[in-house]
Amino acid sequence: AADPVIVMKQEVGKAAANRVQSDSIVGLGTGSTTAYAIEYIGERLSQGELSNIVGVPTSFQAEVLAKKYGIPLTTLDAIDHIDVAIDGADEVDPQKNLIKGGGAAHTREKVVDALANEFIVVVDSGKLTDKLGSTFLLPVEVIPMAMTPAINALAKLGGKPELRMGIKKAGPVVTDQGNLVVDVKFDSIDNPAELEKAINNIPGVLENGLFVGVADIVLIGEIIDGKPTVR
Ligand code: A5P
Repeated sequence: AADPVIVMKQEVGKAAANRVQSDSIVGLGTGSTTAYAIEYIGERLSQGELSNIVGVPTSFQAEVLAKKYGIPLTTLDAIDHIDVAIDGADEVDPQKNLIKGGGAAHTREKVVDALANEFIVVVDSGKLTDKLGSTFLLPVEVIPMAMTPAINALAKLGGKPELRMGIKKAGPVVTDQGNLVVDVKFDSIDNPAELEKAINNIPGVLENGLFVGVADIVLIGEIIDGKPTVR
């Protein structure tokens, strides 16, 4: 039988792709859930159900997938707005605040998602949490020369910081911008808006994975009575 988490990701990706309209500029997020949305947007384009779509990728991964599925791409210098962005998340709270950056792409994601007139988050139900930080570590992108003082400053804010290491790579993960990622354990984040600002105020920090007040719509993939559904 198909892995239920994969089925939920496919269904929610498809639901988001179905919301895209012709003649629009679409922010293309990063991660395994958004990958399905990119695939289905490409499918709708090739079937002639959609036309005149241009994508703004949030990562090297999104760029590669968009090319694979035939979605033309542009850059922020060439456009004056983004109609809709579709992106995944690692945690979502009841206020639609998010933790992102599990794929180390949160800096570009925040630029694109925050610019969009409508930002649609696509998640499976396992990403829902009452309080951000309860399970996922908060990703922080740091320029390499500032790694040690930034780690010390993150610990001073009450977190347990750890440099993210590569899995099929010796040494640390390097972002699409050539920086490092520090994952920080905060037992629970009481005031995400305040913490987002405090972290970004640390010299050498480029961006953190707290997205506060950015998401407009959260589509949740669930399996109910054995059937995949999206709410
Ligand atoms: C990328 O840096 C992240 O923000 C992703 O959007 C997030 O990790 C969700 O990815 P999945 O859909 O693969 O869980």
